[in-house]
Amino acid sequence: MEGYETGDSRPVLFEIEDGVGIITLNRPRQLNALNKEVLESLRSVVEEARSNGSLRALVITGTGPKAFVAGADIGEMAAMDPEGASSFSEFGQSVFEAIERHPKPVIAAINGYALGGGCELALACDIRIAAENARFGQPEVGLGIIPGFGGTQRLARLVGKTMALDMILSARMVGAEEALRIGLVSRVVPEGKALSEALALAGEISRKSPYAVSQAKKAVREGLLGTLHDGLKIERELFAACFSHPDREEGMRAFREKRKAEF
Ligand code: COA
Repeated sequence: MEGYETGDSRPVLFEIEDGVGIITLNRPRQLNALNKEVLESLRSVVEEARSNGSLRALVITGTGPKAFVAGADIGEMAAMDPEGASSFSEFGQSVFEAIERHPKPVIAAINGYALGGGCELALACDIRIAAENARFGQPEVGLGIIPGFGGTQRLARLVGKTMALDMILSARMVGAEEALRIGLVSRVVPEGKALSEALALAGEISRKSPYAVSQAKKAVREGLLGTLHDGLKIERELFAACFSHPDREEGMRAFREKRKAEF
């Protein structure tokens, strides 16, 4: 049940429910802080989910009511030299890129703190659902460092340069309502309900064409990397590709036959 310790000592849990993979960061005593072991496990689970063709969506959450993830592990970072920091950043960035590029939609269900690497993990997901007690922030400058798992890049792309710099330079925390207002999350739900809302949304997405869903994710992600003109070309190609996939046949036939499409 959401918000409770699992008693399982694995740093990342992975279960499948009705075709949805649920990834749970599970280090509640350290507020799910990301050390190398957690990041390694997260990478393996994301790879496992990639090779499971039957999955329709992924949900990422954290154990415990207090935190989604309270950041990269400060104890581990305290012992790093610049070379170690560079590899740590490269590794964390690569794990989060694998989430961002995952063919299936990835929804973050955020309870409590999503700070530093936790905010960056949420930013790498496709959709963010926050509980009313969610608190987002990039506190790194208070520790004498900067975000290193994509925060300076993804936050600015998501909420704009002005708000990203307001958050990053002040290291302040943003509550759920402000996060909704600035477009950092798409939904706010009562405390304890983020996971159930994320699963309900994943269920809705699961009933749509998996091929179209993954093409749509790709079009939005890749389109934002370049100019509008380039993005429109990507959209056109992926739109056309849908017309040689059986899901398009089924989707349109079901509409004409006034029944629900079966994908
Ligand atoms: N790295 C390592 N350990 C962390 C951690 C992190 N990022 N965030 C929390 N923890 C640990 C704490 O050290 C504490 O462990 P302890 O009981 O062994 O001392 C435990 O998690 C609980 O945290 P605590 O600080 O006691 O809880 P709190 O409710 O008083 O405060 C926070 C919660 C999130 C405000 C506070 O833990 C915090 O500021 N964490 C660091 C956030 C951060 O700067 N993240 C970015 C890192 S780049």
